[in-house]
Amino acid sequence: MADKFYITTPLYYVNASPHIGHSYTNIVADTLARYMRRNLGGENVWFLTGTDEHGQKIQKAADSAGLTPAAFADNMVIKFKKLWEDLGISYDDFIRTTEERHIKTVQRILEILYKRRDIYQDKYEGWYCTPCETFWPETQVSKQLCPDCKRPIEKISETNYFFKLSGYQEWLVKHIEGNPKFILPEIRRNEVLSFLKLNKLSDLCISRPKGRLSWGILLPFSPDHITYVWFDALINYISAVGEFDKEGRYNSRWWPADLHLIGKDILRQHAVYWPIILRALGIEPPKTILAHGWWMIDQEKMSKSLGNVVSPVEVAQKFGVEVYRYFLLRDVPFGLDGNFSEEAIVKRFNSDLANDLGNLVYRTLTMIEKYYHGIVPAQGKLDAQGNAISLKIKALPEEMRSAMDIPNFALALENTWVLINMANKYVEETKPWSLAKENRTEELKSFIRLLVDVNREVARQLYPFMPRTSECILEQIGNDSIKKGTPLFPRLPAGIDTGKPGK
Ligand code: MSP
Repeated sequence: MADKFYITTPLYYVNASPHIGHSYTNIVADTLARYMRRNLGGENVWFLTGTDEHGQKIQKAADSAGLTPAAFADNMVIKFKKLWEDLGISYDDFIRTTEERHIKTVQRILEILYKRRDIYQDKYEGWYCTPCETFWPETQVSKQLCPDCKRPIEKISETNYFFKLSGYQEWLVKHIEGNPKFILPEIRRNEVLSFLKLNKLSDLCISRPKGRLSWGILLPFSPDHITYVWFDALINYISAVGEFDKEGRYNSRWWPADLHLIGKDILRQHAVYWPIILRALGIEPPKTILAHGWWMIDQEKMSKSLGNVVSPVEVAQKFGVEVYRYFLLRDVPFGLDGNFSEEAIVKRFNSDLANDLGNLVYRTLTMIEKYYHGIVPAQGKLDAQGNAISLKIKALPEEMRSAMDIPNFALALENTWVLINMANKYVEETKPWSLAKENRTEELKSFIRLLVDVNREVARQLYPFMPRTSECILEQIGNDSIKKGTPLFPRLPAGIDTGKPGK
């Protein structure tokens, strides 16, 4: 089989509408999927996203909306799917944890692990945070507050089922140490390794008594318990792309996943619980778990209570989808936190998009129209500056490859902008209007043809990041005769402070 690339996003909780943080994960995943489709062919890339629909959070949100959790989730899924469509997210499959294909696999896995005694029954006595659905050891609790959300926690005593995480700790440490690309970026890898070296893993409680919470997948071996939402949700990565046979062997065209893209806040579940679950099932771990940083507003976390949640629908409507995608991918070094603000988008818009890229495309088209009646001229001899640009065009794909391998989207885009800026400078220094006036036709021809080549290469490289812009450039300048349309990045609509006097 040809090389394949299976990329996943986290499954989004459907308790609230999607915000810019969620859209960031999917835009990054989409960019990588588009990039890989070009390298491997579309049929060899599988991009999975979806929704996480069970558990307390969703039950509570549905209760307060006066709906059943199922009806509540249905409404929310429509919003997520609409957003992904608007943002050009080219996913191949969308899995909901309430689908039969998923429930069936979760129950099968529970049965297998129970039979193998990797899942066992025990009594739990201790602290529990209901909103977080998390058990806390005495040592981590102070003032009876949840160490995570700081809300009051309660002492409970109940029978539950546990998954033997503790039996696999040594294996996991070895696996992480032996596979430098298993957890990326390195700062996250170190975080997981030091956690594993400093703590002894306790077994994971994977059930909740049905009396307390009924919205979830029933344990096949206990009518009184449902599955803990994280144990349920992680399994989506395999339930969406394969099946277990009678002997309990998992078969899939796509597994192991090449990349689980996640936010840094859900690293523990993905880099500790998940590989151990797979190991216990005799399934290969994913190749890479890649964690991105968070988008903050004025250096603060977005939250309903602070009232600072930014809607991606509104931002994309205001600035355009392509501008939004560009901003998120360009403005923050991948892996770090970013600060989201409209002023920062406007700045990127004015300088990188309107002034650099938009200007290059527009002036190239205008010159072809003016000097060659819209027909792209053939290449001729280049001067030294032209040769340097031509070399840069040839070097760009390799530069992009190494930036995408890391991945570092900001660097990938910066590389492309080096070429754009070289070309703009070339126009300003060559002064084509004087070449025309002086009848230096050969020079003018090679000069303009080189600009066309720059435009085409830039469009090609931009495709994964800004697919519509890329297509739009190629529609205008991709053929022998050009089709000049409206400028790519016209002025921002009135009412947006562009930071420029008189605009
Ligand atoms: N349902 C779980 C994931 C289960 S995966 C098997 C979950 N859902 S979530 O909706 O809360 O978050 C989904 C993703 O959005 C996470 O990767 C999280 O990091 C990301 N983001 C949520 N807020 C974010 C920001 N403010 N900025 C960037 N991404 C953040 O966790």
